[in-house]
Amino acid sequence: MASLRYVAGQSKIDALWKQVLDTFKWTQAGTVHYDEEKFASMKRQVDNLTAEDISLEDSLAEMRLHEGFKNEEAVGSIQICNSDVATMQVFVLHKDQHMPIHDHPNMIGILKVIKGCVRVNSYTLIGNGSQKPGCAIVTTKKQTVEVCKGDPACVLTPSERNYHSIVALNGEAAFLDVLSPPYFTNMPGHELNVCNYYKEVNETEGFNGGDVVRLQTIPPPEDYWTVKGNYRGPEVQRFSPSHRNSLQ
Ligand SMILES: [Fe+2]
Repeated sequence: MASLRYVAGQSKIDALWKQVLDTFKWTQAGTVHYDEEKFASMKRQVDNLTAEDISLEDSLAEMRLHEGFKNEEAVGSIQICNSDVATMQVFVLHKDQHMPIHDHPNMIGILKVIKGCVRVNSYTLIGNGSQKPGCAIVTTKKQTVEVCKGDPACVLTPSERNYHSIVALNGEAAFLDVLSPPYFTNMPGHELNVCNYYKEVNETEGFNGGDVVRLQTIPPPEDYWTVKGNYRGPEVQRFSPSHRNSLQ
């Protein structure tokens, strides 16, 4: 079965979260596996999600009272749901505000713009990514995309477009992030998947038909910080069985 049965009266966000939990499963090997058909069904649900479906403006009204957000210094973040296998969160950027280049180690991510427009720069690691401390990694810079509300979601995987930066265009922008597994998950054989930040250090043309770009890790940028807001949308069933107790 590709998707869960829709329950009359169930909100779109509740149905999406159930589909997320049905899609991503832990394996005995300590990695997250997903069924392609279930993923496609989940992606369609994400593509159809709007700001109204999660009452974004109600959450934002509260967030706008926070000095850091009101002064357009901080990025807004609203956690909708979290489990050991996945997380759903909304980020709100002010006009021209940047989310610096960062990674999603061994994670799958879906980014759906629900308000305004953003420009996304993505990078794919070349090679196995073995990285000596202090040395830059080599990536292929993907074509920059501008994504607006109403457009389909962007997808990143452990091996494709795992590094990206995001900037809000024309005005305030908001996007939903579905990530599996969440950051700070212990995965056997891997380092803890903390979020690392990067800067471009040089660029040369013409490798594999794209641009080869070196990314150097940097400390978390001091001018990038978030204000947490409360989720004020329709109720989402927060209970989920422990996916690590029902391994595939
Ligand atoms: Fe990201």
